[in-house]
Amino acid sequence: MSTTETSSPMVSLADRLSTHLVGRRREIELVVAALSAARHVLFEGPPGTGKSTLLRAVAVELGIGFEFVEGNAELTPARLVGHFDPARVMQEGYRPAVFIDGPLASALRNGSLLYLEEINRIPEETLNVLVTVMSERELNVPRLGRIEAAPGFRLVGAMNPFDSVGTARISAAIYDRVCRIAVGYQSAEDEEEITDRIVPGLDQDWLAQVVELVRLTREHPDLRIGSSVRGAIDMCAVATTLGELRGLEPSSPEVSLDAALVSLSGRIRLREGGHRTAEEIVRDLWEQVFGDGAPAGEHEVDGEGKAPAPNGAASHD
Ligand SMILES: Nc1ncnc2c1ncn2[C@@H]1O[C@H](COP(=O)(O)OP(=O)(O)OP(=O)(O)O)[C@@H](O)[C@H]1O
Ligand SMILES: [Mg+2]
Repeated sequence: MSTTETSSPMVSLADRLSTHLVGRRREIELVVAALSAARHVLFEGPPGTGKSTLLRAVAVELGIGFEFVEGNAELTPARLVGHFDPARVMQEGYRPAVFIDGPLASALRNGSLLYLEEINRIPEETLNVLVTVMSERELNVPRLGRIEAAPGFRLVGAMNPFDSVGTARISAAIYDRVCRIAVGYQSAEDEEEITDRIVPGLDQDWLAQVVELVRLTREHPDLRIGSSVRGAIDMCAVATTLGELRGLEPSSPEVSLDAALVSLSGRIRLREGGHRTAEEIVRDLWEQVFGDGAPAGEHEVDGEGKAPAPNGAASHD
């Protein structure tokens, strides 16, 4: 068999995945390669970098069944694996027919993919069940017996390393059983295109400035975590509706600054010990990017070199 013949189904899968995403060709190739090699995969990266989007694209395009699980503190082993129906157990006893498969039992039996969102939020006890399944490819359920993994069973998880909810709990045992795909922030061009797809029709130069502002939050010394592309998407969406409400262009300074404050001040995380509020930092960065067009007239920059909030913005000063 020639190399081209061997690789073409993978190439076509990668091409189909690309239709769901802006950019990310390398990550797409890595996930296709890892899954084709029958490996488990873990996407790891900051919020808003497209991990779930990539996960959903794989689920749609891979053409095999999948079970989708949201990782959270309530995901007990019984919820993941399955359980005996208590009412029927009373009448029929612990018969296999009385067992209700959870997503893990289904994925094992059907040889499908198990998608785990926010894997770091899953309680330790439940993670331990996964550790066994990932290496042994079988699961022992008390009173039910052994469920063997049908060919095709794989696990694809996503997690955000900045999420303080239990990230540390992801044990070396899990890491040692997965191929890890690091997903970093998108390029500026990709962020512009992502935002433009979700909020179309905005002035492209202004959109580029919005993305620039959002990216500056990731480098600000007073910030622990900056905004993801979600901040740019929200700022554009809010500027559009706020502009309509005020009878102004989304890019007009009065609208743009308020849209920035409302979209960014909540999602950036301040470093401990800093003296400035999130609103002050957003305002400064906005000045830096859109400075020439600062809100005019009554909104002129005050004596301390700080623009007061235009109409509608709550000022904390
Ligand atoms: N490469 C991309 N192509 C298209 N849309 C994208 C891309 N990256 C991010 N997005 C968009 O950005 C938003 C955030 O993406 P997504 O939810 O996939 O991020 P995530 O990495 O799963 O974040 P979290 O860690 O917070 O769960 C979504 O609206 C998504 O549509
Ligand atoms: Mg996600």
